[in-house]
Amino acid sequence: MSQSIESVLTEKRVFKPSREFSKQAKIKNFAEYKKLYDESIKNPEKFWGKQAAELLWNKKWTKVLDWKAPFAKWFVGGKLNVSENCLDRHLNGPRRNKAAIIWEGEPGEKRTLTYHQLHREVCIFANILKRNGVKKGDRVLIYLPHIPEAAIAMLACTRIGAIHTVVFGGFSAESIKDRLADSGATCVVTADGSYRRGQAVTLKQNVDRALEGNTAVKRVIVFRRANMDIHITEGRDVWWHREADYVTADCPPVPLDSEHPLFILYTSGSTGKPKGILHTTGGYLLGSLLTTKYVFDIREEDIYWCTADVGWITGHSYVVYGPLALGATSLMYEGAPNWPQSDRFWDIIARYGVNIFYTAPTAIRSFIKWGDEWPAKHDLSSLRLLGTVGEPINPEAWMWFYEKIGGGRCPISDTWWQTETGAHMITPIPGATPLKPGTATLPFFGIDAAIVDDNGKEVGPNEGGKLVIRKPWPSMLRTIYGDKARYKKQYWSEVKGCYFTGDGARRDKDGYFWIVGRIDDVLNVAGHRLGTAEVESALVAHEAVAEAAVVGRPDEIKGQGVVAFVTLKTGIKATEDLSEKLRKHVGAVIGPIAKPDEIRFAEALPKTRSGKIMRRLLKQIAAGNAVTGDTTTLEDFSVLAKLRASDE
Ligand code: WT7
Repeated sequence: MSQSIESVLTEKRVFKPSREFSKQAKIKNFAEYKKLYDESIKNPEKFWGKQAAELLWNKKWTKVLDWKAPFAKWFVGGKLNVSENCLDRHLNGPRRNKAAIIWEGEPGEKRTLTYHQLHREVCIFANILKRNGVKKGDRVLIYLPHIPEAAIAMLACTRIGAIHTVVFGGFSAESIKDRLADSGATCVVTADGSYRRGQAVTLKQNVDRALEGNTAVKRVIVFRRANMDIHITEGRDVWWHREADYVTADCPPVPLDSEHPLFILYTSGSTGKPKGILHTTGGYLLGSLLTTKYVFDIREEDIYWCTADVGWITGHSYVVYGPLALGATSLMYEGAPNWPQSDRFWDIIARYGVNIFYTAPTAIRSFIKWGDEWPAKHDLSSLRLLGTVGEPINPEAWMWFYEKIGGGRCPISDTWWQTETGAHMITPIPGATPLKPGTATLPFFGIDAAIVDDNGKEVGPNEGGKLVIRKPWPSMLRTIYGDKARYKKQYWSEVKGCYFTGDGARRDKDGYFWIVGRIDDVLNVAGHRLGTAEVESALVAHEAVAEAAVVGRPDEIKGQGVVAFVTLKTGIKATEDLSEKLRKHVGAVIGPIAKPDEIRFAEALPKTRSGKIMRRLLKQIAAGNAVTGDTTTLEDFSVLAKLRASDE
């Protein structure tokens, strides 16, 4: 990591988009980007108002923005429906029989849904929801594998104004339980199971466990995916395919207020409890549509593939809503990149002729490790554009992606954004922006990004500071579900008048943003956000644990790994076996991605005199570095000495 930080600081290479690419791109040169960007910042409401014409409105809005900081209403008075925008509007023309979703299952099954077919499936499922008592405004929890039904269920919710909350299929029963409680969902959509690296995953069983003692959930709709034996609770659980026999494919979209809640997506914060990020209809759809259009520069005939799961915001905005609103073809692959072999992704690109490929730096670093021979076996010449998201990409990984996958001809859109921002915020515009390996480059249209010091003052070139956004934007979160106070405190109190991202960054002399990473107690493990407090509370819930402190340490593949310092209750022995048990325990409480890479047993944790755990010291120890900086507030110096000794 320290090596890649150095390489970021010394990075001088610049890659201009090729003339061939630019010629056919929507934004053809840097001057064009700059002009549009400047206009969008000078008068954002005019800009967004004009862009909103890209959407299909049932009733036009009367006011672009109603801003009572930090609460925004966009396109006030407007009415529209997301599923109508993503489906119906494409049916009266040549897109009707175009592939909307091309899907491949991990075991190898293949499905294509045209816009006509997808529309039909969505209408059927919307009617199934209605038949099962789901009404406008109700929350529906979706816990499905990465299969077309995930998109179908999401779109069906939007069709009738139900609010979906998707929970990633890799999360545990405990996580579902928390999200059910917080969202008050009354309906769960799940599958019997799914596949991961050839192993069947028991989704329905997790739902059953999450529902023990829950009385709010009236219905569980189960899709048959893996032919597993499952338990059906009479009166509560129904099969998707059986329900389909009772409904028609006729379901008109309901015109919804522009600010009608669209979905809640939970993400880790700096406290133990994940936050329900709330997005609404008009603004979110506009953000995902516009960025998909300009950042991926999708053409009518393209095959576009974003490798994210729909359980994350990337899957929401760039597998489902953005591409479908644009009428594009979105490819979905269910499984692991190294199943059955390490070239599954390259095989898929060659077989479908993928033109645009969007993935994560952590995946790229795995590909590098697996070896160049895997991509070399396949014809990747259909690729025109690449993208990355989730964490800073180190220049070495960028160069490998550019050369070995892009053949030196495909621009890379390194897109910085967050669950909260809904859509890309800092990103190259591929036909216009000269690229430098390791930077997300410049803000998207209408986005006023800046780097400020602790007093909110903008810092000079190459000075580090906090990354903030100074103006509201349409796809911004509206609140934390059920907790306006936390929304205000978390995002709008750190820097006066600005949205605080939680990231540290610097800008170079060309104004390019170099994201350093989170500066709060949030880790970024393999592109997934993980709160240290969440892992700590999972650990202390175990009967053997007295206290726990969790920190990140640099990891070659995952960006950050998880190290837990643990003190045990009196009389309990620190053993290998216990360490493995604790790792498994965290995996079971949160999900496999949260499993600590290492558990370090300690007699005590370093604390300040006021009793705060000194994470800075633990981070240095976890990374194997010397402990530097101020230790004068450390309560007991012998603790530090012991922690260091256990390191040697
Ligand atoms: C955090 C947001 C947004 C989709 C995936 C993650 C980090 C995201 C980049 C990038 C550097 C990045 C930031 C951000 N991040 N993209 N291109 N370069 N850092 O969504 O779970 O909401 O996490 O991911 O630290 O704050 P998320």
